[in-house]
Parts: sequence; structure tokens; C-alpha cells
Amino acid sequence: MKFFVLVLCVVAAMADPEWHTLDAHEVEQVQTTWKAVSHDESAILYAVFKAHPDIQAKFSQFAGKDLESIKDTAAFATHAGRIIGFFGEYVALLGSSGNQAAIKTLLHDLGVFHKTRGITKAQFTEFRATMTDYLKGHNNWNADISHSWDDAFDKAFSVIFEVLES
Ligand code: HEM
Repeated sequence: MKFFVLVLCVVAAMADPEWHTLDAHEVEQVQTTWKAVSHDESAILYAVFKAHPDIQAKFSQFAGKDLESIKDTAAFATHAGRIIGFFGEYVALLGSSGNQAAIKTLLHDLGVFHKTRGITKAQFTEFRATMTDYLKGHNNWNADISHSWDDAFDKAFSVIFEVLES
């Protein structure tokens, strides 16, 4: 049986040798810790804008506006829901190994969408840093969880970065 599982894993890996998502343990950790923040969309986007005004400046609706006065508006909540909600989609899709192609397409399209708006790899990396800090602050963090999230971001960004400029 073990040998059969091993063969299956090797075959699955050969099907797409260049890219695959997380292992089951990582998926479990990412999904559990995501749950703790999944309803904090506006708070997360607020933290991102606060730490990185250059990101806020890319949003035509919010550029140049006082963050404190926009953070509780309906428009802010709508944007936050779309952007942070995307992560919910990614995290949910990670749960099934049959979703590799769907995940890759989703990430590729996200990269194309942002490239057309002049968003850079460096800005995605800024975004990642704040999101990781937020997750850290709202979970019982440890090195193992940290490693799982690093892998989740590395895998996602490896696809998005194929498209973006540095
Ligand atoms: C992992 C990080 C990110 C994710 C998951 C993400 C996700 C999204 C999603 C799902 C949308 C909505 C797309 C649509 O309406 O079809 C969006 C829009 C947008 N994103 Fe991102 N984004 C990320 C990082 C960034 C960064 C770093 C910037 C800027 C520096 C940025 C700027 C924008 C802008 C300007 C829009 C268009 C907003 C509008 O409708 O006016 N995003 N993003």
C-alpha cells in the first residue's frame, strides 16, 4: 500500500514537475491560521496601506486620501473584501490536490491584472510582509506555521512573478 502511495506521488509530481502546491501538513496549518483572520479584510488592507503608502497610491479611489477617514467606508470594505478575499479562495483551493491547474490559472491571471496597473514585484513583497505580520499577530505563531506560510507565499508568488516587472 505504501509503495502504491509512493508511486502515485511520483506520478503526480511528474505530471507537473515545475510547480505544485503545499503538502497536506502545510495546507492544514495555512487553512487553520487563515480562519483566524478571514473576516478581517478591512483591518488587513488598512495595515497594508498604513505600512506601505506606495500601495495605497496605486488605488485610484484611495490615492492621496487620509487613510483614517477612508478606512471605515463602504468602498474600502468592498475593495478589502475583493483583495483579501482572493486569499481565501487561494487557501480554500489548496485543500485539494486536483486543483493545481485552477490555482495556477488564478495566480497567473492575478499577475496579468496587476501588471497592467503597473504593480511591481517589490510591492507584492511589501504586501506579503504586512500580511504575514498580521497573521502572526492573530495566531499562536511558531516556526512550523511560519514555514508553511512562507511556502504558501513562495508558491503563489512564483507564478505571479512570472508576469510582473521587478
Ligand atoms: C498578494 C497580493 C495581492 C492580491 C491577492 C491582490 C488581489 C486583488 C484582487 C482580487 C483585485 C480585484 C480584481 C478585480 O476587480 O477583478 C485587486 C485589484 C487591485 N489591486 Fe491587488 N492584490 C494584491 C496586491 C496588490 C498590490 C501590492 C497592489 C499595489 C501596489 C495592488 C493594487 C491593486 C489595484 C490598483 C487594484 C484595482 C482596484 C480597483 O478596482 O480600482 N494589489 N487586487
